[in-house]
Amino acid sequence: MEARSKPQRSEAARLSKVLVKSYGCQMNVYDATRMADLLSREGYAETQSEEDADLVILNTCHIREKAAEKIYSELGKLAIAKRALNAQGRDMKIVVAGCVAQAEGEEVLKRQRAVDIVVGPQSYHRLPELLRQAKDGARVSDTDFAVEDKFRVLPAPSGAQIRARGVSAFVTVQEGCDKFCSFCVVPYTRGAEASRPVAEIIAETMRLVDAGVREITLIGQNVNAYLGADGDGRQASLAQLLDRLAQIEGLARLRYTTSHPVDMAQELIDAHGANPKLMPYVHLPVQSGSDRILKSMNRKHGADAYLSIVEQLRKARPDVAMSSDFIVGFPGESDADFEATMALARAVGFASSFSFKYSPRPGTPAADRDDQIDETVKSERLAALQVLLEEQRQGFNAATVGKELDVLFEKAGRHEGQIGGKTPYMQAVHVEGPMACIGREVRVKIIAAGSNSLSGRLMSEEAKA
Ligand code: 5AD
Ligand code: SF4
Repeated sequence: MEARSKPQRSEAARLSKVLVKSYGCQMNVYDATRMADLLSREGYAETQSEEDADLVILNTCHIREKAAEKIYSELGKLAIAKRALNAQGRDMKIVVAGCVAQAEGEEVLKRQRAVDIVVGPQSYHRLPELLRQAKDGARVSDTDFAVEDKFRVLPAPSGAQIRARGVSAFVTVQEGCDKFCSFCVVPYTRGAEASRPVAEIIAETMRLVDAGVREITLIGQNVNAYLGADGDGRQASLAQLLDRLAQIEGLARLRYTTSHPVDMAQELIDAHGANPKLMPYVHLPVQSGSDRILKSMNRKHGADAYLSIVEQLRKARPDVAMSSDFIVGFPGESDADFEATMALARAVGFASSFSFKYSPRPGTPAADRDDQIDETVKSERLAALQVLLEEQRQGFNAATVGKELDVLFEKAGRHEGQIGGKTPYMQAVHVEGPMACIGREVRVKIIAAGSNSLSGRLMSEEAKA
């Protein structure tokens, strides 16, 4: 037995495997792909299975208490798996990356002995060096806001890596937040607003498009605050960047997320009417419909300003669909304040939304307030808001039945002969159709709306783009 298991172990040592699990926002999904690409250069192949993994990275989210606590319960399970592997003479290194790592630093190492490395969102390009230290038995934490630019250090993905991830990809264009909403940890975990240069973003996008990507979502914590260097001391806004990217041949669709109402420049609103590759779908978090609460959230805009942005977007692009984030039960929120949130949601009519109970986060101003709202009141308000938002979502989906929409096909459907893709409004659609449509935008007649996806019929199998 011993003699047979030894070669297997050395085989496993040569072909190291990494499992990267991402939680929270789209930027974590993007960072996870960059970590996987970086580690592939170090000899790690990606795996989806924990049993196979020599290295597990949890790319964590700190936005609400539940998200952060989930990480510790996950770490508890990993610690047990690691001990079992150690007993068999194998090892599994555990890395905590992302915003919990940034917020808690070495505390993570103290709270969970099985963790080997803690690395923040601005220093994960140093993972190879941290892994070398961990292999020598050290437990290390690096949560610096690194002086070197991680994007300059990170390797570009290969064509095969890009193709394996599908036809829609994220590109980070902006990081960090200077807004300091009084409930939010992001300015502390992701740091100050910073934008990547235009040329770097164009190069990354071209590489993705060359390998078959057809849709790019530009991401940033405050993406519409983007202001990136554009050579010769010039700077480009998000609208200008979108314009430049739209010129890339083969790229069919552009999206951007997440935006802040105060940075919703007229130029960007106008781009929705002028740039045909820019999809008519805008995720614009409002958080609350009450001016009093918006003020104490330090949002720097009122409900009317939000409604007027929506009106202007609809003027520029009449079919634009809106999406938002809401927080209920912020400290001091009265029934009347909550009713104002319901009224704003009714006035806009959202295609899709995310809504949350306020979760006090250590170190943020709102967490210290003594007018916290009772959990049962929060739950009641959340339930009422979610009923309304769900009605709006279903209504929006039902309204597309009978329409002809361009669908970007992404993958095989769940049933034999089916393929699945997305409408311009981010709705999932499945149709009977050939795999040759994957990666193409094809006209589809929507014939039915289910609770989570639409079904349709191909109008033509010729690709538009
Ligand atoms: N409690 C509840 N929700 C929050 N969000 C951010 N911070 C908190 C918090 N402390 C929500 C906001 C934000 C989304 C990403 O998460 O709605 O837009
Ligand atoms: Fe957080 Fe507000 Fe910045 Fe969004 S804009 S990341 S909610 S502080």
